[in-house]
Amino acid sequence: MSRALCALVALSALGVAGCVGQAAPVPMDLAPIETPVVHQSPKPELGRPIAGLTKAEAEAYLQRLAPMVVQRVLTAGERARLQSEGELAVAPIVEAWTKEPGFAEAARLFVETTLNVSGAKDGVDYSLPGNLAAVLAAQGRPWRELVTSELCYARDGSPTACDGDAPFKGGGLLTTRAYLKSRASRFNLTRASTMMRTFACRAYPMENNLQLRAPKAELLGMFQAQSAAEAEAADPRSVSGAANGAACYTCHGQFAYHSQLFVKFDEEGHYRASADGVQDPAGELGRSLNGTMASHFAPGRAANEEAYVFSAKVANLAEAGKALADNPTYVECAAEFFLNWSLGLQWGIVDYDRNLMSAIAERARKGGDPSLGRIVVELYSDALVMKSLAKKEP
Ligand code: HEC
Repeated sequence: MSRALCALVALSALGVAGCVGQAAPVPMDLAPIETPVVHQSPKPELGRPIAGLTKAEAEAYLQRLAPMVVQRVLTAGERARLQSEGELAVAPIVEAWTKEPGFAEAARLFVETTLNVSGAKDGVDYSLPGNLAAVLAAQGRPWRELVTSELCYARDGSPTACDGDAPFKGGGLLTTRAYLKSRASRFNLTRASTMMRTFACRAYPMENNLQLRAPKAELLGMFQAQSAAEAEAADPRSVSGAANGAACYTCHGQFAYHSQLFVKFDEEGHYRASADGVQDPAGELGRSLNGTMASHFAPGRAANEEAYVFSAKVANLAEAGKALADNPTYVECAAEFFLNWSLGLQWGIVDYDRNLMSAIAERARKGGDPSLGRIVVELYSDALVMKSLAKKEP
């Protein structure tokens, strides 16, 4: 096992040791639905103060992080400061990093790697998400703007329209063709799952008390199903869905709302006001007409973009971006993704203690909606993160 992975296993194991069950969920449907068990340890254990690193460990810690976070190695001045002040120098040094152009570049690479989009191809500018990230990081603007911004930016930082030509304002990178086209799929499932994974660190099914389910009666028959037989009876073509388990509604009752937000964006990433989300009778399952995708909802409701993101009612993708960013999961998830990215790991490999990320996020939010820089400072100066990544002996 690599050193990074060992350290991270330690990071999550600390949480497992104090693992407690989740509070009783609030079911949205009469049928009881099981949701994931979340690792959670008591809060007071976690916090910034002292990690107990030696001066050499503190130096090695930032030496390892610098190439990713600020795109260079440590300067002689930084090394000298770490050698004299030890771990107390970590927060101020990382804070100074976040003001450097290298950090804006890191933010770009972070978002490009996370979404796997960059460059340009077939007339689509896949650099818009990364450009937005770089501008936000360079200007110290709130990281929430990644999914709420009304503007996108060209490579040189000049403002330009986000190119999905949505009629509403806002939604940031969610309304770029880079996002929409690269994640186009039947029933808009990949656009929805990428959104929840990247900006809330959640997979389906997520906690009942986090995300409402759409009323069963409004959904297509197969998504109401709680068994493979019910699903097959509703639509024989749906059996492939059983690969994820037979209780379709458990996951797709939540998917229904998130995928609905994309119902008017065709597979090229353009908004089509006339799209109605109704299954193309002659087409593959999950496809509607003119390159748009079918809704989870039955005809009638299918054309309406309205949805719930968590417990917030939203009219469209722009309001969805706000609801995503308003939830505490947003900053927690940014910290978690950034940590994984900076260590060269993929999200999902390490099962972090939820309270670790929420303690980091809480500190980052103290001064209002945090910039990426603020989140990163709190992340790397967290005592538990430092100890887990840098301490030679526990
Ligand atoms: C544990 C959660 C879960 C359950 C249960 C579940 N699904 Fe899914 N389903 C998913 C996920 C996740 C995807 C992939 C989404 C993506 O593209 O990122 C998916 C994809 C699909 C797709 C699209 C497949 C494709 O090739 O594009 C269909 C159709 C589908 N599910 C139907 C069903 C049906 C019908 C059932 C019940 C028999 C079911 N699912 C049960 C989570 C689930």
